[in-house]
Amino acid sequence: MTQTDTLTQYNDFKTIALDRRSVRKFTEQAVTVEDIRELIDCARYAPSDTNSQTWEFIAVMNRDKIKEIEQLTWDQLHKRAAEAETRGLAREAKLLVKSFGPYATAFSNAPVLIVCLATPYQSKFRERIFDPIALVDDAVWAEEGIKSSCLAAQNLMLAAHARGLATCPMTGPVLLAQEQMREVLDIPSDRQINMVIALGHPSERPARLSRKEIDDILRIVE
Ligand SMILES: Cc1cc2nc3c(=O)[nH]c(=O)nc-3n(C[C@H](O)[C@H](O)[C@H](O)COP(=O)(O)O)c2cc1C
Repeated sequence: MTQTDTLTQYNDFKTIALDRRSVRKFTEQAVTVEDIRELIDCARYAPSDTNSQTWEFIAVMNRDKIKEIEQLTWDQLHKRAAEAETRGLAREAKLLVKSFGPYATAFSNAPVLIVCLATPYQSKFRERIFDPIALVDDAVWAEEGIKSSCLAAQNLMLAAHARGLATCPMTGPVLLAQEQMREVLDIPSDRQINMVIALGHPSERPARLSRKEIDDILRIVE
């Protein structure tokens, strides 16, 4: 590859990385199974600890099911707000419903909801060395699975953007209604629900949100 090709490739990549936005409004245009399979193909080439590939995806393409997940998120939100109110936290309860409610259910308009799961982390290292010496506790291994699942999710979102689709990564519904989602989507208990990703054709183009300056987040050790 020539230097010019490399530069063009880098510039293309940077445009995709910088122009991806979290989109919460979608057109009626359907996303195809072929689209979804393409995105998962990109997702599965993400790196993972000892190539453990601790990821699985459920693509919910049924709008009634998506509405059901929205409803059970609201139900849990109202339940948590009512509980907070009985503990004298009326202001927080009100904010939870008013501010967090729409944020946690911003997928309601999407034609597809991708549920990103983290599967249990298994490896020969773990089996033969780490577990026998009790290197770390189970929570750390659970986190290890989540890390790779997150990288796959980012691949998926960048691929979607490059393909003219739009996404919004969301943990709001997971924080509120993880157990209910597990039941509705028949998710086994050994799978962690990492996040959901709203997916569709964009009907809005949100402005780029500011980022911390490079100098504020980078420390170079020479
Ligand atoms: C871990 C995580 C959880 C998020 N949860 C939500 C969510 O519940 N609802 C939502 O509307 N956006 C959610 N977002 C999207 C963020 O709000 C968004 O990425 C951020 O504001 C930056 O905007 P940008 O993605 O357009 O650059 C989440 C993003 C991440 C990475």
